Amino acid sequence: MTPVMAGIVGCGQISSSYLEHLTGTLSGLVRVTACSDLIAERAQQRAAEFGVPTVCTTEELITDPEIEIVVNLTMPAEHHEVTMAVLEAGKHVFSEKPLTVNRELGREIIEAAAGRGLLLAGAPDTFLGAGLQACRRLIDDGAIGTPISAHALLAAGHGSERYYDIFTGPMFDMGPYYLTALVSLLGPVSRVTGSAQIPFAEKSYPADSPHHGKTFRVSRPGNISGVLDFEAGCVGVITTTCEVVGYHPRLEIYGAEGVLITNDPNAYTGAVTLQSGEGEPQPVSLPEGFPAWGRGLGVAELAQAIRAGRPPRASGDLMFHVLDIMHATHDASREERHLTLESGCPRPDPFELRELLGSTA
Ligand SMILES: NC(=O)c1ccc[n+]([C@@H]2O[C@H](COP(=O)([O-])OP(=O)(O)OC[C@H]3O[C@@H](n4cnc5c(N)ncnc54)[C@H](O)[C@@H]3O)[C@@H](O)[C@H]2O)c1
Repeated sequence: MTPVMAGIVGCGQISSSYLEHLTGTLSGLVRVTACSDLIAERAQQRAAEFGVPTVCTTEELITDPEIEIVVNLTMPAEHHEVTMAVLEAGKHVFSEKPLTVNRELGREIIEAAAGRGLLLAGAPDTFLGAGLQACRRLIDDGAIGTPISAHALLAAGHGSERYYDIFTGPMFDMGPYYLTALVSLLGPVSRVTGSAQIPFAEKSYPADSPHHGKTFRVSRPGNISGVLDFEAGCVGVITTTCEVVGYHPRLEIYGAEGVLITNDPNAYTGAVTLQSGEGEPQPVSLPEGFPAWGRGLGVAELAQAIRAGRPPRASGDLMFHVLDIMHATHDASREERHLTLESGCPRPDPFELRELLGSTA
C-alpha cells in the first residue's frame, strides 16, 4: 500500500514513543511529515531527534493538503478542540486516550467524524499487541469455556497530583487500557454500577515532584471500582486506585473451563498464563512476529484501514464506549444505582501483525 502521510500534534512526553516506531518499523505504512506543539521548541526537538521534515503551527499542520492522518497527542482536556479542528479540516484522526473528557464532547466528535465520512481511531492500541491478541485467540477457540467473570485491577501508588488534577483520577487515566482490553476480549458492556471514593482529602507531593514537602487537596476520587455486565453474559469487576503502594496491573478472565491471566494491559506483550480445567497454570506461547513495541501500532492499523476502506480496530466507537463506562462507574456511585449504557461498539476483529506489516510490500 502507499504510505499514509501523517502529522503529530503535541510533542510532549509520549510523542517520542510514537515517533520512534512511526519513523522506524512502521515507516512503510505511515510517513510522519510534520509535527507541531504550542511550545515550538518541543516540536523542533522531536523533529531533530526523529528526522521529521517540517515543524509548523498546529493550524498549518491541520490544513496541510498532503497530510491524511493527524495524530493528536495533546492532554485529555485538549483532545476535543484539536480532534474537532482536524475533522473540520477533512482529515482522519488518531487520538491519545481518552477520547475526550465527557460524553457530550465525545458524541460531538463521533458525529463529526461519521458526518464527514472520516475515520476516527485512538489509544489504547495495546490490545493489538501479542499478549492480548493471544488471549483473544484462546477465548475465541474456547480454551476457557464460557467466560463467567473478569477481574481488572490497576493498583498504583504514584502519589502524584497528576492522577487527581489532570482529568478526573486513575479511572480516566489508566482505566482505558483495562476497559479496552476487556471489550476486545469479551465484547461491549451493557450495564454498570460502581463505587468511587476519596480516601485521603489531603496528599503530599511525591519525592520526585518540584513541590515535594508541600501538600495538595484532593477533589477527585482516587479509588474507584466498577461492576460491569457484559452484553454476552460475563460479569466483570474493575478497580483503579492510586492510593496504595507499588504498581499492580492485573487482568484475569475466569471461564467455566479455564482461567486466563493476561499481560499488563498497558503493554504490548508480557507473560500470559492459561489454566485449563483443574491443571496447573501454564505459560502461553505468544504469536510470532510481534515485537515488544510500541505506540504507533494503532496509527499504522488506521493507515491500513484508510487504504482498505474498512473501519479501524481501535475505533472511535470503542473509545466512546470506554469513556461512557468510565463515567458510568462514577455516576452510579453518586446516584447509588445500576446504569444501563446507551453506548456500545462491535468487538474489534482479531489482529494479525504480519498481515499489517505485509501490506507495505
Ligand atoms: N506520558 C505518558 O506516559 C503517557 C502514556 C500513555 C498515554 N499518554 C497520553 O498521551 C497524551 C499526552 O500525554 P503527555 O504525557 O505526552 O502530555 P505532555 O503534557 O507531555 O504533552 C502534551 C503536549 O501537547 C502540547 N499541546 C497542547 N495543545 C496543543 C495544540 N493545540 N497544538 C499543539 N500542541 C499542543 C503541549 O504543549 C504539550 O507539549 C495524553 O492524552 C495522555 O493520556 C501519556
